[in-house]
Amino acid sequence: MLDFTLIVLLVAGFALAADVRRGTAHYREYFYVGYSYVPQSGNTSIADGQIYVERLSPASGTTQPYPILFIHGSGMTGTNFLNTPDGRPGWAEWFMENGYEVYLVDQAARGRSPWQQSVDGLQTTIDTLSVSQLFTATEVYDLWPNSTLHTQWPGNGTVGDGVFDQFYASMVPLLESDGESGTKNQHAFVALLDRIGEVILLTHSQAGLFTWPIADARPSLVKAIVTIEPGGPPFIGDTFSSNTPKHPWGLTEVPMTYDPPAASPSDLQTVNVTEGRLPGYTCILQQEPARKWVNLLDIPVLSITSETSWHGIFDDCTVDFMRQAGLTVDFVRLQDVDIHGNGHMMFMELNSDEIAEKVVGKWIAEKTKSAMLGSSRE
Ligand SMILES: *[C@@H]1O[C@H](CO)[C@@H](O)[C@H](O)[C@H]1NC(C)=O
Ligand SMILES: *[C@@H]1O[C@H](CO)[C@@H](O)[C@H](O)[C@H]1NC(C)=O
Ligand SMILES: *[C@@H]1O[C@H](CO)[C@@H](O)[C@H](O)[C@H]1NC(C)=O
Ligand SMILES: *[C@@H]1O[C@H](CO)[C@@H](O)[C@H](O)[C@H]1NC(C)=O
Repeated sequence: MLDFTLIVLLVAGFALAADVRRGTAHYREYFYVGYSYVPQSGNTSIADGQIYVERLSPASGTTQPYPILFIHGSGMTGTNFLNTPDGRPGWAEWFMENGYEVYLVDQAARGRSPWQQSVDGLQTTIDTLSVSQLFTATEVYDLWPNSTLHTQWPGNGTVGDGVFDQFYASMVPLLESDGESGTKNQHAFVALLDRIGEVILLTHSQAGLFTWPIADARPSLVKAIVTIEPGGPPFIGDTFSSNTPKHPWGLTEVPMTYDPPAASPSDLQTVNVTEGRLPGYTCILQQEPARKWVNLLDIPVLSITSETSWHGIFDDCTVDFMRQAGLTVDFVRLQDVDIHGNGHMMFMELNSDEIAEKVVGKWIAEKTKSAMLGSSRE
């Protein structure tokens, strides 16, 4: 009887242990940057413009020369990089396990970064059908070439599936205007870099649009850039916005420093390219000789596109624009490194650790090798 009880306890104990998720012991701190006080009637004020920032440091120590600053995309928050919606460790965990300190944020006027009714512009919410069609169940809708090859989302990606429901419930309203988001995020992230110093910037989707203005304002603090299916393509909305003009400064809504200087977007002469593109698709680039993003020339860039996302249609055009602007870009389509079936939310899909290790982690390690050797970061 005693033995039986012991076995029951052991089995129960094992079940508990198996349920405990992997986790790197770490320190956590949160703070806000970028606020200013906005006067209100009655001798008082409110704060606006600040972003929520969470700093996670492995307890065993940081072994990498630079921390990674993650910036999430539309409708998302910093939770994107914590555990995945099906409860596996996320990219923050993977990078901490590999010796990186990580910063997670909520974009300006989003999530834990306050949206102030009297200051900030209108918000919008991405509905469940759009999320299934674009991110989680593209295989069901067949809206673009390769969408049906999507296999890596955990669960069926639609309402009623527990993983989808968790993911969707984590989504929050975002500013309607990418222009307003661009200005406010540039301001807040410059304040963040001024506080924390050198980083590797890792951005997803919409945050691609803010990557360039942040780096433009603080080029010496951005040691490398990883863009995951970045905002684009140049000068127009993506496939779902029927080629309406967007990103007037090329890949941004806010001004970039060009050389020769561009005083206004109309200084950027463009040309429509169809050769080498998917049938029916036009890529708008600068006319040569192209103006350069002169502040960003020394920052290495890795741009990643999945096999099945709609970004597969035009991310090559976005990368061509970056290269014309003078950047050195490694462009990886996941299928070319034998990673198949991923969509837009690759960093939380079933093989998220594989992508972290084989693509992102490997590239960052290579680009920061010299800093590793020469540094004594405390
Ligand atoms: C507002 O503050 C000013 C300066 O401190 C003071 O003179 C004034 O009486 C205050 N007004 C109110 C309504 O509290
Ligand atoms: C997805 O899974 C949920 C939960 O099992 C189920 O209720 C729903 O019908 C499934 N949806 C589709 C489109 O298969
Ligand atoms: C280039 O493409 C854009 C977007 O499709 C279109 O609006 C514009 O008219 C085109 N310009 C030329 C010169 O063909
Ligand atoms: C679709 O997938 C195939 C096979 O991996 C790949 O060769 C092709 O580039 C992909 N096309 C797009 C538009 O992503």
